[in-house]
Amino acid sequence: MFPINRPRRLRQTPQLRRMVRETILTANDLIYPLFAVPGQSVAQEVKSMPGVYQLSVDKIVDEAKEVYDLGIPAIILFGIPETKDMEATGAWHDHGIVQQAATAVKKAIPDLIVIVDTCLCEYTDHGHCGYLETGDLTGRVLNDPTLELLKKTAVSQAKAGADIIAPSGMMDGFVQAIREGLDEAGFNDLPILSYAAKYASAYYGPFRDAAESAPQFGDRRTYQMDPGNAREALKEVELDIEEGADMLMVKPALSYMDVIWRIKEITDLPVAAYNVSGEYSMVKAAALNGWIDEKKVTLETLTSFKRAGADLILTYHAKDAVRWLEEA
Ligand code: PBG
Ligand code: ZN
Repeated sequence: MFPINRPRRLRQTPQLRRMVRETILTANDLIYPLFAVPGQSVAQEVKSMPGVYQLSVDKIVDEAKEVYDLGIPAIILFGIPETKDMEATGAWHDHGIVQQAATAVKKAIPDLIVIVDTCLCEYTDHGHCGYLETGDLTGRVLNDPTLELLKKTAVSQAKAGADIIAPSGMMDGFVQAIREGLDEAGFNDLPILSYAAKYASAYYGPFRDAAESAPQFGDRRTYQMDPGNAREALKEVELDIEEGADMLMVKPALSYMDVIWRIKEITDLPVAAYNVSGEYSMVKAAALNGWIDEKKVTLETLTSFKRAGADLILTYHAKDAVRWLEEA
């Protein structure tokens, strides 16, 4: 009739709730993505991502200062090159856009951690994440030739001052290839954050506007994972650990929190969750319509990623989240 156990006892006041709270989001958990474009004083808002901009290197530096002042430890850089070609020249060129941005940010704010996305899709004329046979319009990405290009890309990014290499193309053996390339070039201490379990997701739509990287034909399902698979994610993770990954990523985050949890159960390496563009844009769109409370929804979602096991969260909401945490 009268319960002895009353969990509500510990929920009665804000003080009590604060005392027993298990998961607390902080600025330390966040990584902010930035998109670098050629030019000077360019800040072009991405239509499908309100509040997210393509920025020229000078603006990237300003933005990086803001991020650093907010106490966010790291940014991740994506690049939109002047020209795209079969060999993804813009990805591995010593004066590529990401290389320029990395060098400029490290010069201005040496303490801010600069992660670079290591992939080819922003730099190939066809928009796929790897190398294709000339004239092949079926989109069959060739794995091993791609590894050579990724190796070159990572080494040039390292030379430009990047602190962490984050390969995102889901090629077999990409961690090992990049580790070899970095070690041969003397970058033994540069960590690799592998996009270990990256799904072929419709949630990437707005990002492809931001990075101008939509595949021109076909899709990415021969290299990114099938949304129905979780055991396969563990396989991908095991391989990446054997190949020398220092950190692992799950992407997207919201629909894949079970995968985050399962990965945490099999590894002690830090696990990152990528709160991707579509997840961001859905919240923005609903908030702009006045249908949800953007601040509360965002903080709840980010806290949930951490509760699911994420040690790090890549999110376009990073700056907002820190400001909201400070208000709270
Ligand atoms: C491609 C890449 C993608 C994202 C980052 N790098 C996905 C894709 O185009 O397949 C998505 C990030 C986001 O949606 O926020 N290597
Ligand atoms: Zn890619």
